[in-house]
Amino acid sequence: EGVSAMRLNVNGTVRTIQAEPRVTLLDALREYLDLTGTKKGCDHGQCGACTVHIDGRRVNSCLTLAVMNQGKEITTIEGLAKGEDLHPMQEAFIKHDGFQCGYCTPGQIMSGVACVREGHANSEAEIREYMSGNLCRCGAYPNIVAAVREVAG
Ligand code: FES
Repeated sequence: EGVSAMRLNVNGTVRTIQAEPRVTLLDALREYLDLTGTKKGCDHGQCGACTVHIDGRRVNSCLTLAVMNQGKEITTIEGLAKGEDLHPMQEAFIKHDGFQCGYCTPGQIMSGVACVREGHANSEAEIREYMSGNLCRCGAYPNIVAAVREVAG
């Protein structure tokens, strides 16, 4: 009861799910579409682990309902690589060891891509400010910043 069909355009493919209107985009991705690369940390907009792009903008997917994102272009960590070719930000995180446990990494990478694209990667301070919503409990911040800086050029 209360379940309805939703069409979500994720990583270039439109898929239909049957879900209640209260389902967050994060839960839709993870539990209905099996896209578990996007992580659930706090589920309250405070950690950034769930960061995705919606129409090119960075969004915490735990803070938006799936039903509200029909007709928009949703990109998750699974959509960044082109086939076998990793996105430059993914390569940079590997090169600079931008992770330890890795739980925050998908969100960090999605934010890093947005940071560079939006022109907020001109200095370490600017990157840290932009990325401040993405928490890393291992404290890999210096390496994360180094990765973003490299991609920014
Ligand atoms: Fe969305 Fe923490 S799970 S910000």
